[in-house]
Amino acid sequence: MDSLLTEIDHVAIAVHDLEAAISWYRDVFGATVEHREVVESDGVDEALLRVADSFIQLLTPTRDDSPVAKYLERRGEGLHHVGYRVADCAVALDAVKASGGRVIDDAPRPGSRGTIVAFVHPKTSFGTLIELVQDPRVV
Ligand code: CO
Repeated sequence: MDSLLTEIDHVAIAVHDLEAAISWYRDVFGATVEHREVVESDGVDEALLRVADSFIQLLTPTRDDSPVAKYLERRGEGLHHVGYRVADCAVALDAVKASGGRVIDDAPRPGSRGTIVAFVHPKTSFGTLIELVQDPRVV
């Protein structure tokens, strides 16, 4: 069968100082921000920097009790999750559940920039938090 994963949508990196991280990517690599968004439900401020057909997603918490704030406290800055692009988030999520895997989101929900997303628990996906990303603008 064809893979349900069609592209690396983004690699998400948790940082303490979003502006400093954006400046570093700009000054060193010439990478520029294509999208900025505060996702209040997740307690994150994010910047997306395009790399070919994918993004680097720099994340910083907007409040102390957000999951990203807790992550930074426990693990420090670094790789937070990998977003895999999928054609249909519900189908990919069902595949995880059907295999007996643990999920964080029981059903697809709105993500940033108009996407539909669901997270898979890292205990299931070999230690890496995975986000399944359906982008309605990308077919
Ligand atoms: Co993400």
